[in-house]
Amino acid sequence: MKIVVIGGTGLIGSKVVARLREHGHEAVAASPASGVNTLTGEGLAEVLQGASVVVDVSNSPSFEETAVMQFFTTSTRNLLRSEAAAGVRHHVALSVVGTDRLSGSPYMRAKIAQEQLIKQSSIPYSIVRATQFFEFVMRIADEATVGTTVRLPPVLIQPMASDEVAKAVGRIAVGAPVNGIVEIAGPEPFRFDELIRQGLRARNDPREVIADPRASYFGTELAERSLVPGADARLGEIRFEEWLGQAVPAR
Ligand SMILES: NC(=O)c1ccc[n+]([C@@H]2O[C@H](COP(=O)([O-])OP(=O)(O)OC[C@H]3O[C@@H](n4cnc5c(N)ncnc54)[C@H](OP(=O)(O)O)[C@@H]3O)[C@@H](O)[C@H]2O)c1
Repeated sequence: MKIVVIGGTGLIGSKVVARLREHGHEAVAASPASGVNTLTGEGLAEVLQGASVVVDVSNSPSFEETAVMQFFTTSTRNLLRSEAAAGVRHHVALSVVGTDRLSGSPYMRAKIAQEQLIKQSSIPYSIVRATQFFEFVMRIADEATVGTTVRLPPVLIQPMASDEVAKAVGRIAVGAPVNGIVEIAGPEPFRFDELIRQGLRARNDPREVIADPRASYFGTELAERSLVPGADARLGEIRFEEWLGQAVPAR
């Protein structure tokens, strides 16, 4: 089966491509690096020829409000239009658990718009909403840093390993479209400030983490359960502590 992975050179995309190939599928990594640009449409018709499934794990190079909205809406429109022309039978997209509860964030508003375009299109689809990747912990810390202090609200968060995100996305891509949302998450919940404290400590990062109920997260306020999935979520097995012990420090 030919499966085109848009964003196939990224963190999740490269792992999805590798897994699909291991399982004998013809997985094609598509991104600007390989001449496929979903924002301009360049290379899309060519790469989608003969494809049964498209997995969209691309990400906006900029999280700035106008840029990120333009990225997810224009790319998704171009992609869905080209998929319809090519006869693609399953569109899989990676989104974020709780997007609909996080509309104060420009990034999440763009993800909500992406999801809506997919739901409105004629292509059968599966939207996979994942929690924050373990790899994203340092980016979160940087975003929440002022001087040498990191402020985060002490709400629940249930992050997961990118390997397990890729595994779930790959499985869903080769299955029947669910025409709905599948939630995936890590095996254990944390208090947000404690998670980031653990991540920084493991990398000998001296920044102090302060639990601040009014601190925002990528521009939005968080409630106790904004970031955690519902009861039907598929949970991974890799624990953060275990991952910290294995992962090569990413900085
Ligand atoms: N970070 C988290 O914790 C988290 C949690 C849940 C869901 N997600 C979602 O996961 C998805 C993937 O994230 P990631 O961290 O794997 O992304 P990433 O490593 O930043 O990779 C982004 C990919 O998008 C490609 N790309 C950028 N502009 C493109 C364009 N115009 N046309 C086609 N491809 C383009 C890049 O290609 P080049 O390499 O050629 O530039 C790259 O392959 C995102 O949609 C995000 O919303 C993230």
